[in-house]
Amino acid sequence: MKNIVVTGGAGFIGSHLIRLLVNKYPEYRIINLDLLTYAGNLANLKDVEKMPNYVFEKGDICDFQFVDSLLHRYDVDAIIHLAAESHVDRSVLDPFSFAKTNVMGTLTLLQAAKNFWTPGGFRNKLFYHVSTDEVYGSLPNDGSYFYETTPYKPHSPYSASKASSDHFVRAFHDTYGLPVKISNCSNNYGPNQFPEKLIPLFINNIRNNRPLPVYGTGENVRDWLYVVDHARAIDLIFHKGKVGDTYNIGGFNEWKNIDIIRLLIRITDRLLGRAEGSSDHLITYVKDRPGHDLRYAINSEKLHRELGWSPSLKFEEGIEKTVEWYLENQEWLDSVTSGAYMKYYETMYSNR
Ligand code: NAD
Ligand code: DAU
Repeated sequence: MKNIVVTGGAGFIGSHLIRLLVNKYPEYRIINLDLLTYAGNLANLKDVEKMPNYVFEKGDICDFQFVDSLLHRYDVDAIIHLAAESHVDRSVLDPFSFAKTNVMGTLTLLQAAKNFWTPGGFRNKLFYHVSTDEVYGSLPNDGSYFYETTPYKPHSPYSASKASSDHFVRAFHDTYGLPVKISNCSNNYGPNQFPEKLIPLFINNIRNNRPLPVYGTGENVRDWLYVVDHARAIDLIFHKGKVGDTYNIGGFNEWKNIDIIRLLIRITDRLLGRAEGSSDHLITYVKDRPGHDLRYAINSEKLHRELGWSPSLKFEEGIEKTVEWYLENQEWLDSVTSGAYMKYYETMYSNR
């Protein structure tokens, strides 16, 4: 029996990863450690919550005593760390929360893991840190890529906090010999993403005939990967990746925001039985996000070459499935977009 803690398992990517691990490895016990912030939702895991190899533990990764006792209680062998504050716009409004969760939370987990594993030795132990391509900064529109060796140049408080957490993970490897792995992934899309992020927000707004706030000119470029393919990559790196190494994960699938928005409009209109493009009038150009990175493009050749990973789903297929999912799961959307969320949403967009 391997006891694996997944932090942030009630969030978007974490819930897809837990589903994959719980179903694929009945011999592992998967412990989901999540604080259930606004972004955490146990409804994301309804289908696995009764599985015998799955446990949920509500708690804060910044709480050393809690983390320490959890590691002892389950005799934990490995941690896959996803818990984070993950939305760039929120980091502009409240950078302290990002430093606390993303930096101090990661450091708390590292220290607790090191202390717990030191007496028995680090053999067969692993701290896997899930990070983002945003740590590398921004690229011009010249066909260049982020590689694993690209120097860090974060611009937003979110990416600065993730960069800092990556540095702490490497420091624990280099200083104490803690077995670590890091992956840096591009933009994920798919079911269960909190509708503050571009794709679910826009699908929901098109459905409800609400304005689609395009930041700046809409010319910014992102590299989109289906969330299940990210989970598959994490599984592969966790089992086969080299300890101490970093792996970039991305779909070689770059889109200008405005192009993806027009595509979302066409698909959503069609699935709702409207004339394709009839929601184009909802496009509303608004003030740009401060420090808005122009382009992300991740080179994931190392992961392909060394571990044989490639995305399983074509983007056209993935995005169609995604729009369908949000339209069919209106109850899920309504439950996460009520109350406090609407207040935040209105404040965010009222002054743009
Ligand atoms: P998310 O915001 O959907 O989920 C984050 C989860 O972490 C939530 O369930 C939340 O309750 C939990 N959490 C937050 N603070 C916590 C705390 N103090 N203690 C315990 N749990 C806490 O995020 P996501 O989009 O699923 O991203 C997961 C990870 O992947 C993050 O580390 C993020 O930086 C990284 N990442 C995300 C993307 C993307 O496109 N979404 C791409 C690359 C990397
Ligand atoms: O690259 C990986 C990162 O992708 C992850 O580390 C982050 O956790 C995740 O949030 C995401 O960051 P982005 O800032 O790229 O994602 P977001 O969905 O917020 O925005 C995507 C693009 O769309 C970005 O250029 C900003 C733009 N945008 C976003 C929103 C929410 C708009 O034009 N309007 C909007 O309302």
